[in-house]
Amino acid sequence: MLFRNRFLLLLALAALLAFLSISLQFFHLTPVTPVSNGMNGKNRKRIMPDPLTEPPVVDPIHEARIYCNIPSITERSAEGHAPYYFKLVSVHVLIRHGDRYPLYAIPKTKRPEIDCTLVANRKPNHPKLEAFINHMSKASEGLMEGTLSTLPLYPSHSLCEMGELTQTGVVQHLKNGQLLQDIYLKKHKLLPKDWTTKHLYLETTGKSRTLQSGLALLYSLLPDFDWKKINFRHQWSTIFCSGNCDCPMRNQYLEKEQRRQYLLRVKNNQLENTYVEMAKIVGIPTRQLRAANPIDSMLCHFCHNVSFPCTKNGCIDIEHFKVIKTHQIEDERERRERKLYFKYALLASHPVLNQTVSRMLRIAEGKKEEIFVLYSAHDVTLSPVLSALGITEARFPRFAARLVFELWQDGERPADHFIRILYNGVDVTFHTSFCQEHHKHSNKPMCPLEDFVHFVKRDMFSVLNSSSYYDACHRKTF
Ligand SMILES: *[C@@H]1O[C@H](CO)[C@@H](O)[C@H](O)[C@H]1NC(C)=O
Ligand SMILES: *[C@@H]1O[C@H](CO)[C@@H](O)[C@H](O)[C@H]1NC(C)=O
Ligand SMILES: *[C@@H]1O[C@H](CO)[C@@H](O)[C@H](O)[C@H]1NC(C)=O
Repeated sequence: MLFRNRFLLLLALAALLAFLSISLQFFHLTPVTPVSNGMNGKNRKRIMPDPLTEPPVVDPIHEARIYCNIPSITERSAEGHAPYYFKLVSVHVLIRHGDRYPLYAIPKTKRPEIDCTLVANRKPNHPKLEAFINHMSKASEGLMEGTLSTLPLYPSHSLCEMGELTQTGVVQHLKNGQLLQDIYLKKHKLLPKDWTTKHLYLETTGKSRTLQSGLALLYSLLPDFDWKKINFRHQWSTIFCSGNCDCPMRNQYLEKEQRRQYLLRVKNNQLENTYVEMAKIVGIPTRQLRAANPIDSMLCHFCHNVSFPCTKNGCIDIEHFKVIKTHQIEDERERRERKLYFKYALLASHPVLNQTVSRMLRIAEGKKEEIFVLYSAHDVTLSPVLSALGITEARFPRFAARLVFELWQDGERPADHFIRILYNGVDVTFHTSFCQEHHKHSNKPMCPLEDFVHFVKRDMFSVLNSSSYYDACHRKTF
């Protein structure tokens, strides 16, 4: 009797793992966009290949490099560009945490030896890294909501813990913060010199990697900030839905999307064979290998230039990696075509977009609070927002990805406000579904705030045949 129960329990556990494996592939790693040979200089700037004229050439290695986002040369960015008579009045930044150690280990193999301590003369380095470490170790008066106050402020293990932010991850966000400081604070004087707590709104999920990423960005944005002025709110939901998380239809769309993803995977013979081969090398059942979500770990090896693991049966190699990565890119393409994820994304991203719109409206009315907003989040936060906005060609959020919303006041007509949206420094304002048309009919280089407001308050639900979030969330029929 006892044994049978145990067996059933194990069976249930196996099923759960298999399900998790599907959702995890879906959530964490699926990269994106068929990229047209982005290596040659001419195309490098383009994040939006034209699907009609450029046949998708999938280069999994190139895509993986972009995903790693190894800090090297300074990128060009289009943040803060506007005609001289526009005044920047508010900025909202949604980031994904930086490079992290895997969340899962491949069973029976040695996990990659990566050092998560911060060392100023080790690569990748940043001029502010040492000062950052100093400042973090002096923290005493920062206000951290709830469980945030128990998290370490910077990574510190000589063998990284699962999911821990690495030095690469810290440097990526020091770079982001530097860029935003140069443009928003030095050039546009977004914050008053004597800024205080009320000028910022900071929110992070309860993981150390998101809190630490947010702190790294803030540190180079506001060097040597006064800890008393830093107040991080804790967001328990990875989609930042706060008090508006109850949405049964959102879960239904997600389940359908996961079903689509499962069906695509099982009909890919090359992928299945690759898992079988890898499982033989590792010496575990294929199911168990798949459940261990090996691509997460393999990406860490890849991004850190650590060779893939070997056993006495052989080695996992770059060909395995390419097959899984290529499948992810195909999955992402099908995901866009089938639109199930898009419907999920509309419902998942509404609360955070609604929050952003509310803050922008308050600023437009003249309130001088929450001028700079930072949400420190995950790929599963950014991905639905990008999809819902209609920026369909945007790549899956790489490490330390940033999505920025800028609010501008027209100096010639001070009642008029406009927004710009930038993804990893590229202006995507007119790639959004709600501003494509505006582009054609106006000479303004930005999108009217009211178009964004109408989209978030009303139009984003029309695809779902509803007129409000509540309606769309509680529909009984499809
Ligand atoms: C990656 O590692 C190999 C050997 O371990 C080395 O030859 C190569 O230079 C490294 N590449 C980079 C970019 O660090
Ligand atoms: C949207 O924002 C308004 C104003 O802040 C708030 O009252 C409302 O509850 C929000 N709705 C949702 C669904 O997030
Ligand atoms: C919305 O209504 C149209 C026409 O009645 C229907 O074809 C479509 O499937 C509906 N969409 C949703 C999401 O319910």
